[in-house]
Amino acid sequence: MASTFKVAPVPTTPIEGQKTGTSGLRKKVVVFQQPNYLHNWVQSLFSSLEALKGSTIALGGDGRYWNKEAIRIICRLAAGNGVGTVKIGQNGILCTPAMSAVIRSQKLYGGIILTASHNPGGPTNDFGIKYNVSNGGPAPESVTSRIFANTKSISEYSIATLPDGTTEDDPFASVDLSVKGTTTFTNETDSSTFTIEVIDSADDYVNLLRSMFDFEKLSALFARPGFSFLFDAMSGVTGPYGRRIFIELLGGKSDCVMRGETLEDFGGGHPDPNLTYAAELVAKCDPEQNPNAPDMGAASDGDGDRNMILGKGFFVTPSDSVAVIAAKAVEAIPYFSKGLSGVARSMPTAGALDRVAKGLGIEMHEVPTGWKYFGNLMDAGRAQICGEESFGTGSDHVREKDGIFAILSWLSIIAYESEGKDKVVSIEEIVTEHWKKYGRNYFSRYDYEEVETDAANAVMSHLDDLQAKMNAARTTPDEPMVIDPTFETKVSVADNFAYVDPVDGSEAKGQGRRFVFSDGSRVIFRLSGTGSSGATIRMYVERYEADEAGQKEDAQVALKPFIDLALRVSKLQEFTGREKPTVIT
Ligand code: G6P
Ligand code: ZN
Repeated sequence: MASTFKVAPVPTTPIEGQKTGTSGLRKKVVVFQQPNYLHNWVQSLFSSLEALKGSTIALGGDGRYWNKEAIRIICRLAAGNGVGTVKIGQNGILCTPAMSAVIRSQKLYGGIILTASHNPGGPTNDFGIKYNVSNGGPAPESVTSRIFANTKSISEYSIATLPDGTTEDDPFASVDLSVKGTTTFTNETDSSTFTIEVIDSADDYVNLLRSMFDFEKLSALFARPGFSFLFDAMSGVTGPYGRRIFIELLGGKSDCVMRGETLEDFGGGHPDPNLTYAAELVAKCDPEQNPNAPDMGAASDGDGDRNMILGKGFFVTPSDSVAVIAAKAVEAIPYFSKGLSGVARSMPTAGALDRVAKGLGIEMHEVPTGWKYFGNLMDAGRAQICGEESFGTGSDHVREKDGIFAILSWLSIIAYESEGKDKVVSIEEIVTEHWKKYGRNYFSRYDYEEVETDAANAVMSHLDDLQAKMNAARTTPDEPMVIDPTFETKVSVADNFAYVDPVDGSEAKGQGRRFVFSDGSRVIFRLSGTGSSGATIRMYVERYEADEAGQKEDAQVALKPFIDLALRVSKLQEFTGREKPTVIT
C-alpha cells in the first residue's frame, strides 16, 4: 500500500456564484458535483488562510448525500496545500456544535463542516461547506470575503496525487473512515508528512457537555416514573449523539430517540425542528392524539445546531426558551453556577430575555440576525447565553448554537424544579410560572417564501417611505407616531435596525424595519439572508402581556390586531399577490 504521495498543480478557471457567507456555500448537490466546483472553493479557502502549512484542521459533516466523496477530495487538497494533519470524524460525521468543541478543546487551526443545515438532502437537494476558525466559530467576514475574491481569480489548485503523478487517483484511499486511527503519508516532493486521523465524532463534545451539566441528576430524572422523554433526530446527524447521551449516559428507554439513524436524504424530510416540519413529533407529544404522550419532546436539525422544545401538548417558543434557560441557569445548570454577566438575542427575537436580564441585573445585548454576532460578546465574556427566534439557542461553551445543549438545559431545569416534589413539574408549569413573574411576550413569525425579488423589494421600500413619513410628522423627537389612523396604539420607534458591536466597534446597518409600539409591542419586517431562490419576507409580531389573566390565549388570537395592522400597512398582500404566508411559527 502506498504511503507516499506527490503534489501537483492542476489548472482551473473561476466558476461563477461561489459567494461565501458565514454559513459557507450552499448549493444543489449537482452544482457541487460539477468538475472542479468543490476543488475551486476549497483551494480558494486554503489560499486565504495564513500559517496553514503544518497546521491541524478538523473535517466532518452532517452525513448528507455526497459527504464522504467531498471528504476524500478535501483531504487531497489539504495535503496539496501543506496541511499537516486532518482530523476526520468517524464515518465523516461531526455535528456543527461538536466541530466547534473539537476545534476548541484540541486547539486546532480551524475546521471544515460539510452541511446545508436544515435544508433537505439527497441527490436532488442541497449540499454545503463552511469554515470555522480557531475560536470554534464561523469564519468572519474578513475571511469569507477573501475566499470569495479567490474564487473569482483562481487559476490552479494544488492536489495530492499518486507517487506516479496520476491526478485522478486518491493516494489516501487506503484510509478507512469507519475505523478510528492515525495514518501518516510522506510527500515525495519535499519529504513533509501528511496525517489523517479518524477521531470519535462525539468524545470531545460529549465530555464538554458532561462537564457542564449534572448527569447524575439528569439520570435520576430519567429514572423517575413520572417522567418520559422523546427526542426526534429528524434522520439528521444528531441520532448517534442522542443515543449516546439520552440512552447510554442518562438511561433513557431504547425508543426515546426517534428517526435516530442518520440518512443521506434525511428520509426525504426537511430536517428543521419547527411545528411544520417536525409535525410527527408534535403529534406524538399531544395527549389528545397520543395517550402516552411524553412529558418532554425535543428535536434538532440536520447538523444539530437548531432545537425545538415541547411539553405535553405545549410548544415553547424559542424566544421563551432562551429566557427560561437564562432565568434558571445559575441554580439549575452547574456550568453557569458562578453567575452570568450578560445575555443576548437577535433583534427579531421576542423580548422575554430582556426582562430576565433586567431582573438579574446583567447586560442585555440585541444583535442582528445571525449567530456570528454573538461571537465577540462571548469571547469578551459579555454574554454567556444567547438565543434566536429561528430555533437557535446556545452558550459560550462553543461558538455555534447547540441543540443538545438546549435540551440538556431544559432537562436540568425540570430536574431542578422537581427536586423534593412528589410529581415531576411539567414544562407548561415552568413556562406559565415564568410568564407570571416576568409577563408573556406573545410572538409569531410569518414567512413568505420564494417571493419575486422585485415584489419583496417593493414591500421594503414602501415600508421605508412609511417610516420616513411617520418620523417626519413628529414635532418633537419623542412625540408618539401614528402608524395608521384607525389604530390606537402609537409607535415610539420606526427605523431600520443598525448595530454597533460593543467589542470591536464594527457596524451592521439595514438589519430589519421595526415598529416598536408605546406598549412594547413590535412589528418587524426583514428579508431572509438564507433563502436559496427568490426572496423570503419575514414578518415578526410581538405583544407583551403583563397580566396573568391575559396570558393563556392562543398566540394567533392574542396577536391578531397587530398582525392585521402589519399586513395592512405593509401592503404585503398587494405587492406580492400572496394571500397567506408559506410558514407560520
Ligand atoms: C441560520 C443562522 C441563524 C439565523 C437563521 C435565519 O440558521 O445561523 O443565525 O437566525 O439562519 O436567518 P434568516 O436570514 O433566514 O432569517
Ligand atoms: Zn443547522
